[in-house]
Amino acid sequence: MSASIAPGPVPAQAVAPRPATGPAAGSVTLDLSGRTALVTGAAGGIGRACALRLAAAGARVRAVDRAAEGLDTLTEAARDLPGAVEPTLLDLTDLDAAEASAAGADILVNNAGLQLVRPLQDFPPDVFHTVLTVMLEAPFRLIRGALPEMYARGWGRIVNISSVHGLRASPFKSAYVAAKHGLEGLSKTAALEGAPHGVTSNCVNPGYVRTPLVERQIADQAAAHGIPAGQVLADVLLRDSALKRLIEPEEVAEAVLFLCTPQASFVTGTSLALDGGWTAH
Ligand SMILES: NC(=O)c1ccc[n+]([C@@H]2O[C@H](COP(=O)([O-])OP(=O)(O)OC[C@H]3O[C@@H](n4cnc5c(N)ncnc54)[C@H](O)[C@@H]3O)[C@@H](O)[C@H]2O)c1
Repeated sequence: MSASIAPGPVPAQAVAPRPATGPAAGSVTLDLSGRTALVTGAAGGIGRACALRLAAAGARVRAVDRAAEGLDTLTEAARDLPGAVEPTLLDLTDLDAAEASAAGADILVNNAGLQLVRPLQDFPPDVFHTVLTVMLEAPFRLIRGALPEMYARGWGRIVNISSVHGLRASPFKSAYVAAKHGLEGLSKTAALEGAPHGVTSNCVNPGYVRTPLVERQIADQAAAHGIPAGQVLADVLLRDSALKRLIEPEEVAEAVLFLCTPQASFVTGTSLALDGGWTAH
């Protein structure tokens, strides 16, 4: 059973000043000792950064992924942190196992994802199905598995790693855009149902993040748009971003942590864009 964050005086929280064009150097202050967090897709990229950040805040982190090697590296990296990382090898297409894995989590970060860049008429139906399963149906099952105990404790935080593509479409990403738009709806519904029970649910919506998922799509984007790979960053990925850089996984993790602070307890059913101004258009 988890201890709750003490009510009463608001703990100090600070975010260090951020340079106008570079990533932040500081971090949100929060003590999550006694809390259990489940992070999916924790073996790499944004999920790894979230798992390390939550463990640094003292949480016991159930790190779920199908990639054993990445989980080993994560566990090693977390060794000296105040919290703990418990690697959980799981393929989220096993939906019953996914739901069971979420029991007892106070914080659920739905992060695992995959991408395929292909025109609609060439998009393989089996990949479309897998993307929807991992990025929409598994989050539903994980939420379903976590809610009973969150409701019993009267506290829970659901953070869904959506994307700018939960709010805007781009060509050649039908499965991804469909899954992320669905995740937005799931997140809002969880917010409405969870509110009377002390459970918030929100989306975090990054633009392009410096992760393997982005590195892997450069060649596909070049082929789909008919341009050289060297032009993809400027001409495709950052075209609509006012800030012309990738966002770092650690910056996304800070936003996730913020949504777990007492100061964010009134923030629910919303989508926090970390998109360098993309959706300002
Ligand atoms: N990288 C970006 O630019 C970006 C931007 C916006 C949103 N996102 C979202 O952030 C999340 C993480 O993306 P990332 O860039 O860190 O990707 P990543 O490829 O670096 O990491 C994704 C992780 O999910 C895991 N995973 C995939 N399928 C799985 C399955 N069936 N079972 C268990 N684990 C599985 C992978 O093994 C991997 O460790 C995704 O939901 C993605 O859509 C990424």
